[in-house]
Amino acid sequence: MEVSSEYAVQMHGIAKRFGAFTALDCVDLDVRKQSVHAILGENGAGKTTLMNILYGLYQSDEGEIYLNGQKASITSPTEAIRHGIGMVHQHFMLIENFTVTENIILGDEVCGAAGILDMNRARQKVMELVERYGFDVDPDAKIEDISVGMQQRVEILKALFRGAEILILDEPTAVLTPQEIDKLLEIMQDLIAGGKTIIIITHKLKEIMRSADECSIIRRGKYMGTVNVAESSEGDLAARMVGRNVNLKVDKTPAHPGDVVLSVKNLTVADERGIEQVRGLNLDVRSGEIVGIAGIDGNGQQELVDAITNLVRTKSGKIRVGSQEVQNTSPRNVLDHAVATIPSDRHRWGLVLPMMVAENTVLERHNEDLFGKGIMLDYDKLHSYTSELIKRYDIRPAGCEQERMSGLSGGNQQKAIIAREVSYVPDVLIAFQPTRGLDVGAIEFVHKTLIAERDRGAAILLVSYELDEVMDVSDTIAVIYHGQIVGTFAQGTVDEEQLGLLMAGGGSQ
Ligand SMILES: Nc1ncnc2c1ncn2[C@@H]1O[C@H](COP(=O)(O)OP(=O)(O)OP(=O)(O)O)[C@@H](O)[C@H]1O
Ligand SMILES: [Mg+2]
Repeated sequence: MEVSSEYAVQMHGIAKRFGAFTALDCVDLDVRKQSVHAILGENGAGKTTLMNILYGLYQSDEGEIYLNGQKASITSPTEAIRHGIGMVHQHFMLIENFTVTENIILGDEVCGAAGILDMNRARQKVMELVERYGFDVDPDAKIEDISVGMQQRVEILKALFRGAEILILDEPTAVLTPQEIDKLLEIMQDLIAGGKTIIIITHKLKEIMRSADECSIIRRGKYMGTVNVAESSEGDLAARMVGRNVNLKVDKTPAHPGDVVLSVKNLTVADERGIEQVRGLNLDVRSGEIVGIAGIDGNGQQELVDAITNLVRTKSGKIRVGSQEVQNTSPRNVLDHAVATIPSDRHRWGLVLPMMVAENTVLERHNEDLFGKGIMLDYDKLHSYTSELIKRYDIRPAGCEQERMSGLSGGNQQKAIIAREVSYVPDVLIAFQPTRGLDVGAIEFVHKTLIAERDRGAAILLVSYELDEVMDVSDTIAVIYHGQIVGTFAQGTVDEEQLGLLMAGGGSQ
């Protein structure tokens, strides 16, 4: 592609190596001005790395960057910002106990007379942006008190506040509800109309079809071409990215449910402020069955899972695994009752990032005979066990199992958790947002794994904010609203519209 001022960004022949590992190998990216350009690729393909290079966080080993037809050298985020590039990262970087305004101006304080921070002027500038783009955020709220969707708008505001003309969004919708996604796509269109250029990384093909003009595809660090989205389809994009046809629908045979293994009766759980988030909830999960909880984030899903796994205490009600009551015991006790959990927030609960991949695969189990050598871990056994898991679950670390967990791409971290939990051979498997941040090929694999676990006889509780996922994978769908189950349906007996209505509180008492 020729260098031209028609393009806001051109990256040509970009290569990046981490030690002996080649993360990017001669990758091109040409982004037209005032367009939405999607980047698609499997987990670990190199998408975030490419954008980190554009944002000056990493230096490329080879290749050139041109902005508006001019060659640019971007050696730090400060320089990227000076060139009008803003980035909203895959994992947010806001300070929880600061307000929205404080977070936005952090590092770019609007100074008043004698260099004193002028909060009023800063607040006014933030308000102007909020109004111009119709953002729904309260500039005086603390980050810890606002929803994830709102936190993301704060990240976007932060970039705009610094004068971003080119906005990089790395998986912005992975943690949003369907309503928040609609809102974000609207904001993106407004930004484009206002002259901005957007580069978006997402695994959600539907969103690419809805929002992007062009889509560039990277496969294992190599550039696979750019397609005009209007002339493409979800199936076409998936096939180009994975290099084979991907089954976007879930194949499964009917369930053969056995006895109730997980039973929740009249459960009430309050949050730390004493507000009841789960209110007299009833739910049964049988062996050989997948029960999916459909609902909008914040309707008690987190508290329900936390109560079952004993991360929080219940106010009243009973939770049984088999014939044993487990409420208000301990997380260890629940594990001992063969309950495995894929947690929703992989950084907070799922992994110890500075530890090796191998050590992470036996978290919670290090005291079992399998890996013990007295009180020490038997590292030889541990490593051969881990390399087996890496092969079976197609986890792709750049190096080997001795690499630190923090070096893995987001999707590969998620696969490592799933590998660990499923290899416990649990009686009950709780899967909370199990495919968050995964590519379509990996999603197909996780869904197959859940169904295989079901067919082995596990009782599976799937909690997901993706309605499509709940509808496709579950044998029984239970709708949660305001801390209660407000409807239960066998798969195939309910449509998206009915579920959406119940999820929004229509039809509840
Ligand atoms: N700082 C680093 N040190 C070592 N390896 C790294 C580093 N950053 C990325 N990698 C490796 O480079 C490859 C590309 O990672 P990257 O985060 O760009 O993937 P991605 O396409 O964004 O994937 P995902 O969809 O899972 O977020 C991965 O194999 C990752 O392990
Ligand atoms: Mg990434």
